[in-house]
This record gives sequence, C-alpha cells and structure tokens, in this order.
Amino acid sequence: MTEDPDVVTRRIARASLDRADATGWFEDLYAAAAEGTAVVPWDRGTANPLLQEWVTESAPDGTDKTALIVGAGTGWDAELIADRGYDTTAFDISPTAIETARRNHPDTKAHYRVADLLAPPPEWHRAFDLVVEIYTVQALPINLQPEAVDRIRDFVAPGGTLLVIAAARPVDQPDEAVEGPPWPLTRATIDSFATSGLRQIQIARVPNPTGPSLHRWRAEYLRT
Ligand SMILES: C[S@@+](CC[C@H](N)C(=O)[O-])C[C@H]1O[C@@H](n2cnc3c(N)ncnc32)[C@H](O)[C@@H]1O
Repeated sequence: MTEDPDVVTRRIARASLDRADATGWFEDLYAAAAEGTAVVPWDRGTANPLLQEWVTESAPDGTDKTALIVGAGTGWDAELIADRGYDTTAFDISPTAIETARRNHPDTKAHYRVADLLAPPPEWHRAFDLVVEIYTVQALPINLQPEAVDRIRDFVAPGGTLLVIAAARPVDQPDEAVEGPPWPLTRATIDSFATSGLRQIQIARVPNPTGPSLHRWRAEYLRT
C-alpha cells in the first residue's frame, strides 16, 4: 500500500460523516484494515504510553475490582489493565475491532464486547472501579461530545477512578476551525468530566513526543 494511512482514514471517515453517520466509519476502517487495504493509525501494538505511565506511578491493584475500557480498539490498553488484576470489560462499537482484539489476545482475561458508548447497557451504570477513556470522545463530532462525556462519567462506581487521555485543542482554536476527525478536547470539555459527583484529582497537558506543538490531556477523576 503506497497511500498515507492518515489520508485513507480521513477518506473513509469523510464518506461516513457525509451521510450523517458519525460512527459507521470505525467499522469500515477496521474491516478495511483486516482486509489489508488500510492501516488503523492509532493501533500501536502496545498500550498507550500515558496509560503505562499512570499504571507505573499509581501501581493500581485490581484484585476484586472491575474496570471498563471505553472504545477499546484492538485491546492493548485493556490487556495492561487486566494484567493488573482488574476484572476488565473492554468495548468498542466496531465488531471487527472486537474480533481483532480477541485474535490479538487469545489468552486474555478481559471480556471484549461490541457496545455503543452512546447507548450503553444499563447495568454499566456506576458499575466500574476503574474507567479508562483514551481518544474515543475526540473521535466523535463536537456536538456529540457532551453526551459521550456524560455516559463515561456514569460508568464510575462510588469510590471509583476515571482516567482520561485525549488530544488537547490549542486554546485559540474555535470549534468551527477544527477539521476532524479527530476533534481534540478543549480545557472546558476535559473539565466537564468533573461534575455529578466526580472530582478532578490530577490534570496534565503533556507535549506529544512525535509533534512538540501538539499536546495531550492526562486527567484523573474520583467519585467520592
Ligand atoms: C481513535 S480510536 C482510539 C482507540 C483506542 N482507545 C486507542 O487509544 O488506541 C477511537 C475508538 O473508539 C471507538 N468508538 C467510536 N465511537 C464509539 C462509540 N460510540 N461507542 C464505542 N466505541 C466507539 C472506535 O471504533 C475506535 O476504536
């Protein structure tokens, strides 16, 4: 394949967004990748470095605890969390992503399932001791982000932790100037996770090693 994977991804995304389908392109992309005609640009083959850093710093013990991985893709982050002892559920809207995750991790202890963040199973309400959200909200158009944030917040059990890793939007960039996907999160959006009983206990805006002008949010919240 000679074409830039980002260009192919944008073309697949645009076709879906142009027919007012905000999420259909994920399955199209993962299916094309499974056939060898596209590359999933965010699929690193390892857990996210900022998640690895958080795990090293916090050394969480998942014994007798549950975790939920939002928009889990092909499962690398879920495996890291499952290895810490959490009873881990990992979901994605794309059936092919979930199939690929199961194929990538045949001995997994995590439960992989297809689900839509915007219409999640009711039993996930305040059910998880740890919720990990990496790059899913930013993959949704700006008008859908508040609902996505509400849903993610609602998964966190009393006493539970939410970790969010996301691209950070430059402070001077208005909504209409963002040509997504992705639609990086503003400070206001990252702060909006801290309502309805969730408290922000850590926030960092970290330079991205691959492009020092780009930044990432790493934020942690606690439901007290
Ligand atoms: C940019 S990717 C990030 C994947 C993974 N979290 C990572 O960091 O490598 C966004 C993921 O969210 C999934 N996704 C998008 N909208 C979703 C929704 N409404 N419900 C569940 N998953 C969704 C996509 O299929 C995709 O795997």
